[in-house]
Amino acid sequence: MNLNDLKARYSIKKFDPDKKLSKEQIDLLIDTFHLCPSSINIQAWKMVVVGDNILKNKIAEAGKRSNRQNIEDCSHVLIFMRRKIDMHHINSVIETTPIFGKMIEKMNLTKSKLATFFWFNAKIWGGKSWVTHQLYLAIGFILAACAQNKIGALPMEGIFTKKIDKILKEPSHFKTVAAIAVGYPHIDDINNPSKLQKARLPKELVTKLI
Ligand SMILES: Cc1cc2nc3c(=O)[nH]c(=O)nc-3n(C[C@H](O)[C@H](O)[C@H](O)COP(=O)(O)O)c2cc1C
Repeated sequence: MNLNDLKARYSIKKFDPDKKLSKEQIDLLIDTFHLCPSSINIQAWKMVVVGDNILKNKIAEAGKRSNRQNIEDCSHVLIFMRRKIDMHHINSVIETTPIFGKMIEKMNLTKSKLATFFWFNAKIWGGKSWVTHQLYLAIGFILAACAQNKIGALPMEGIFTKKIDKILKEPSHFKTVAAIAVGYPHIDDINNPSKLQKARLPKELVTKLI
């Protein structure tokens, strides 16, 4: 990641409704999400990419304040959902993570013992909030990938998550947490750092080198 890409990135506050992202750009975001790290590789999540205009406009109605217009005008909206951790999910993770197979061999465990251990720990680590933290890490990953690849993005917590769950109709063990609108900025977007200076607290206040 190049610092200049991070200096140029910003949260788009007005999208160009006539410009759409290409299939390659969308595939890149999907691959980025797929490669996101998570604690014990739990991947208790899903990113739903909505490009269909009718569905996107429905989701816009679940946006708060200016997010409504931004969802309507963006190219695609990415919905980040957490997944409930159950044994079925933990078993899928164990089966697809070779290092866990090695652990089972080395520690003379069984798959089901390791799965129970993970399930128990996931609950101790905080369940929903633990998974939500993982998801925010993934959101950061996607924002960084957008910056690096000149894809405009607006992260959004200002959404009615339950309304979005109803619109998307994913299985009930998936719950919306946050969203990112992606696309191209409108020429009149005032938040562009070329028009409005990037606003940050002094570096010395938020970092420390010891
Ligand atoms: C987790 C998160 C949630 C945000 N939610 C919203 C939102 O709902 N609507 C909005 O317009 N901006 C939202 N933002 C954008 C922030 O206001 C913006 O990142 C911040 O002011 C810094 O500006 P910059 O992203 O342009 O550097 C959100 C940002 C983050 C990281």
